[in-house]
Formats: sequence, structure tokens, C-alpha cells
Amino acid sequence: MTSPTPHINPNGVPIAEPVLLPGDPLRAQFIAENYLTNVQQFNGVRNMLGFTGEFKGQQVSVMGTGMGIPSASLYAWELIHVFGVKRLIRIGSCGGLQPDLNLFDIVVASASSTDSNFMNQYNLPGTFAPTASWSLLSAVAQEANRQGVKLNVGNVLSSDVFYNFDSTAHQRWADMGVLAVEMESAGIYATAAQAGAEALAVFTVSDHIFNGQETTSQQRETAFTTMMELVLPVAAS
Ligand code: HPA
Repeated sequence: MTSPTPHINPNGVPIAEPVLLPGDPLRAQFIAENYLTNVQQFNGVRNMLGFTGEFKGQQVSVMGTGMGIPSASLYAWELIHVFGVKRLIRIGSCGGLQPDLNLFDIVVASASSTDSNFMNQYNLPGTFAPTASWSLLSAVAQEANRQGVKLNVGNVLSSDVFYNFDSTAHQRWADMGVLAVEMESAGIYATAAQAGAEALAVFTVSDHIFNGQETTSQQRETAFTTMMELVLPVAAS
């Protein structure tokens, strides 16, 4: 049995791959309860709930990451380095930055720009570009095609700042063609890249930064269904 880390204590419950990573641990519980069978809880440390269950006969795990690159990356690091996970799929919400993005649209981060200093630890002689796993991205694209779901694939901003004092920051990222803002994917992509693991981040647009549209919590639940039905068949394949 793998020893527990300071943040994950599976107590003998297996962790499967891929691990789906919503930010909200209660979302992880909702997914386990509504989409998986034969569910076992593998983590409860700090209420960062993690579950392993089956989808169409294949084992899949789902675990909350908390908000922000530091929280999400430490869970990704432990899952990869301590528990041997090689595939991670973040499922989250994002704020739209482009005018043609609407609430409930699906965004997939082929790349993840960031205002975070997280990459400094790698001491690279340049700027690292955190990117998605091609095999996970192409599998999600194929599944979307099969289901007739439109994907918006491109660069996202993984920001350390939710309430940005710099009122023009989002516009400047939007001017670079960045599709949407969220707060975790660049850290997960870099952590996976450094370890030779695969990661993908898929989002539902929950609000729009410039036109002020936002979803109600009830709407978010329904919108979330499209993303789950896209990702779960890929996770279980
Ligand atoms: N900003 C950052 N992260 C987000 C947002 C946002 O507007 N919406 C959903 N995740």
C-alpha cells in the first residue's frame, strides 16, 4: 500500500486513471454519485474529496483540487509522483474573454498562458509554454465530433488573480487571442510535463469577463452535464 502524503490518504482504496479534477470537492462527490458505479472514497484529507468508481466498466477516479495553481498543482504532483497517475483531466469553469464565446460553451485548453511565477522553479533559460496532451485532446475532439458538440480549442489564461486590480489585464490577454480565464491549468500542465505525464483541461464558460453574462448555480449544473458526457467516455477508454 502506498504511504499517504500530507494531502492524500487513500487508506488502501485504489486511485485509477485518468483522474478527473474539478476544482470543487463537492463537484467530485456529485460526479461520483451521479456518473460512477461501485464508488469508493479515496480521500477526505482537508475535505478534498476523492473517489474511485466505474464508468462503463472502466475504473476512473475523480478528485477536487481546490482553487488556484498552488492547490491544484500540489494534488497533481502527489497523484503523479506518489500514486503513479499518468493522465489527469481538469474539468472546470472559465470566464470567456472572446466576444464569440457564450455561456455554457465548451473551451479546451490546447495551451495555458499564465501570470503565475510557478514556472520559475524549473529555472529554464526562457519561457515555458504549458500545453495539453495531444492524445487526450484529440480523444476529446473525436468524442465531441461524434456527439455534435462544438469545441473552442485554444490558449487560455491560468491566472493567479480573480479580482484583478489591473483593469486592462484581461483585455490584453484577449488581444492575444486567449479564449478564456481560469486559475489552475498552467500549473497542472507544467507539473505533468515535468513528470512525463499527460494532462488536459476542459471548461464550461460560466461567465463572460466583458459582457457581464453569468450563470446561476442551477444553470451551471446542467451546463456541466455536456462537459461530463464529453470527458467520461474518453476517461473510460
Ligand atoms: N476568472 C477566473 N477564473 C474563473 C472565472 C473568472 O472569471 N470564471 C470561472 N473561473
